[in-house]
Amino acid sequence: MSDDLQMRVTALVDEAAGIRRVRLEPVAGGPLPAFSGGAHVVVAMRDGDVTRRNPYSLCCDPEDRTGYEIAVARAAASRGGSAFIHERLAVGDVLVVGAPTNLFQPDWRAKKHILVAGGIGITPFVAMMAQFARAGLAFELHYAVRSRAAAAFAGVLQDRYGPRVKIYAADEGARLPLAVLVQNQPLGTHLYTCGPERLMEAVLDTARQAGWPEQALHAEHFMAPPPGDPFSVTLANSGREVAVGPDQSLLEALEAAGINPRYLCRGGVCGECATRVVEFRGTILHGDHFLTPEERAESRTIMICMSRFVGDRLVLDL
Ligand code: FES
Repeated sequence: MSDDLQMRVTALVDEAAGIRRVRLEPVAGGPLPAFSGGAHVVVAMRDGDVTRRNPYSLCCDPEDRTGYEIAVARAAASRGGSAFIHERLAVGDVLVVGAPTNLFQPDWRAKKHILVAGGIGITPFVAMMAQFARAGLAFELHYAVRSRAAAAFAGVLQDRYGPRVKIYAADEGARLPLAVLVQNQPLGTHLYTCGPERLMEAVLDTARQAGWPEQALHAEHFMAPPPGDPFSVTLANSGREVAVGPDQSLLEALEAAGINPRYLCRGGVCGECATRVVEFRGTILHGDHFLTPEERAESRTIMICMSRFVGDRLVLDL
C-alpha cells in the first residue's frame, strides 16, 4: 500500500517463554505516524519466494514516535509468520510495515477501563495502559497466563502500574475471577478483552449475564486464516483463474497472483476486504466475524481474508 514504511529491526527480545518482541525503526528516519492504544500494523515479511503479511498489535508507548514494537507468540501450528519471526528474523533486517489502523479503540468517555488479557492478547493493552496512565484514567488489567514464565510484559507492567495489574497463572491454580470482576463496577465502566476465543467468550458472556450493555463491551479477535482443501477462484473482470493453496487464504493467493485487493485487519473483523460473489456452485465457508448470519446464508459477499470455498465454481467481482 502507498503509506507502507520500510522499517529496520533494531531489537529482538524474548519477553517470555515463546514470546518475542520486535522493535522496528524507520529506515528513512523521522517521526512515525501516530497511533492510539489498540492499533495494529500489517507486517510484510519476505520469506524465500513467499511474502507473508500478518497483522500485529502495537505494544509500545504511542508517545514514542521513533519506533514501533510488536510481540509475537511462537505458534504451535504456524502458517509461517510466527516461525519466521522466531527463527529467521535478525537485527538489521528490513521489513515493510503498513500504517497503523485501530479496530480496538478504547472508549475515551468511560469512567473506568477493565482490561482482560489471555496469553499474547496482552499486546494491545500495553499501549492502551500507557495512554490511560498518562491521561490519569482509572483502569485495571487482569492477565491470565499458563505460567509466570509465559507472562510477557508482566514485570514491567507491575513496575509501572503496581496493584492495577493482576496476574493469574494457571499452573499456580489461579483463575480469572470473572463473576467478581463484572460485579460492582462504577456505572460507565468499559470492559475490553483480547486473547484466546474461549476466554473472550467467557468474559463477554459473564458480563452480558450480569447486565452489561453491549456498547461497554469490546473484544479483539486474533484470527489467522484457516487451512483447508485447495480450490480455485475465477475473477470476473479478466476471466483469470487463481489457485488457492491449502495453507493460503484467498487474499494471499490473489496477492501472490499480483492482484492487490483492499484489506485492513486480515482477520475477518473490519469488513474492508468484502468482495461480491458473482456466481458459485458449492459452499462458501465463511470464517469471518463481520457478516451477519443472514448475509452468510445468502453468500452474496465473501470476506476474502478468512473464508474458503468447497465446490466447482466460484466467481468473484475482481
Ligand atoms: S481485511 Fe478485515 S475483514 Fe478482511
